Amino acid sequence: MPRVSSPWPINDSERGAASVQALGIIGGSGLTRLQALSIERQEIITTPYGEPSAPLTFGRFDGSPIVFLPRHGPAHTLPPHRVNYRANLWAMKHAGVENVIGMAAVGGITRSMSPGMLVVPDQIIDYTWGREHTLFEVDLPAVTHIDFTRPYCDELREALLRGAHRAGVATHDGGTYGATQGPRLESAAEITRMERDGCDVVGMTGMPEASLARELGLCYACLALSVNWAAGKSEGPITMAEIDRHLADGMQRARRILAVVAAE
Ligand code: HPA
Repeated sequence: MPRVSSPWPINDSERGAASVQALGIIGGSGLTRLQALSIERQEIITTPYGEPSAPLTFGRFDGSPIVFLPRHGPAHTLPPHRVNYRANLWAMKHAGVENVIGMAAVGGITRSMSPGMLVVPDQIIDYTWGREHTLFEVDLPAVTHIDFTRPYCDELREALLRGAHRAGVATHDGGTYGATQGPRLESAAEITRMERDGCDVVGMTGMPEASLARELGLCYACLALSVNWAAGKSEGPITMAEIDRHLADGMQRARRILAVVAAE
């Protein structure tokens, strides 16, 4: 798995005890639990930014060490705009994790992003507002601007695509993730605007997760599953039944990819 150097001042004595090879996985909708995960321990991490969504789970996934955190809480009760992204990413860093995969359910906007498709996006447009989106706010030696030209970690994206190939799971390479505020879904006009902007998929949790990971020097990539056509892209309303159907099947395929990446 790729390694990154960190500009962030969490020193070794402040770190938790996770294996440095452990892969961090932030589970999204449909992935609050990882089947085949043998749990070694769970740890409640206190961070300078408050409580993460859940205790960190340290365990083995198909034999490989991972650190797992369900983004929406253990019972899937935290809506996207209430997730404490800062605490979640800080906790991962504190645990000694270097590579983090954010799992995400998304709506498909462009033709190739049909429901059921897995995608490893390579760009982001941020439409969220009012979220605690940076760690670089106070007590800084100097104003800090991270480079975000390529918002996802190339090495981890490659590892995901390689893992998908090895697992025999069809996955789309690249695409722009448009992050909306939620928790409501979008209007058809909003999706038309997002498509004009260049978005391929729409989700509610991609930001500020990706930029906070970059601020912390974590290598972060997203494995997204299209679970519905975005608003106005199909006949009729978007139903939870449709979403749940695609989630159940798609997350099984996503798990197969994760198992290969965790073992690398
Ligand atoms: N919009 C925003 N977020 C989503 C969607 C959607 O259509 N589907 C799954 N997450």
